[in-house]
Amino acid sequence: MSDIRPETKQAQARKKVLVLFSGRGSNMASLIAASMAADYPAIITHAITNVPDAGGLEIAERHGISSKVLDHKEFDTREAHEQALVELINAEKPDLICLAGYMRILTDKFVKQYRGKILNIHPSLLPAFKGVDTHHRARLAGVRIHGASVHFVDETLDGGQIIAQAAVPVEQNDDDESLGARVLEAEHRLYPHALELVASGKVRLSGSRIVVSNSNKSTMGGTLFSPSIEAKKYIR
Ligand code: GAR
Repeated sequence: MSDIRPETKQAQARKKVLVLFSGRGSNMASLIAASMAADYPAIITHAITNVPDAGGLEIAERHGISSKVLDHKEFDTREAHEQALVELINAEKPDLICLAGYMRILTDKFVKQYRGKILNIHPSLLPAFKGVDTHHRARLAGVRIHGASVHFVDETLDGGQIIAQAAVPVEQNDDDESLGARVLEAEHRLYPHALELVASGKVRLSGSRIVVSNSNKSTMGGTLFSPSIEAKKYIR
């Protein structure tokens, strides 16, 4: 069976999503996989990378998603590269933009024009550990719970209102790689979930606040413990 995404009538009603990426593209792949379901409210229509040999290009191609390379090294300034990026984005008229490992700092001007429409995934429980080497810094800090966040993008590095987070334990014997792998697995479930919330309108940005509608109270009372808590010990 072909894994080209379905072009159904429902697909036309879904939110059109453009993905920006710089690397292997595993988060983009998770969004593409989620959007294969006919009832998923978003469809990945375009992908743009700033890295000519990014692994994600092959993923986009395999799924029949229109992809473009806009190599920042071919531009004299950040602004010139971004201007070209804006032109490519605006030509496609996406409803939402998902940053999936897009490792370029975006200018204020860029962020302002897509405010409320750009999502980013970051491998930490924000606002902790913004920037790079998040798994290493989490281990050094000795946190017991680490994770990933999806947020609307504002003008600050890895900043903006948090849409959803996933937590994972930090185990005694973790090194950066094992912890990173555990977080990445969580990212692949988190990003499709967060995009679904935004694309369906269940979560939206209102001024500087996130508004969540139809939240299912029964799933919101849980507390995560790491190290794990002995069953029933403190439950009354
Ligand atoms: C992911 O872990 C993502 O959270 C991170 O880059 C990786 C990209 O992997 N993004 C950031 O650090 C953004 N500040 P992928 O190319 O396999 O999706």
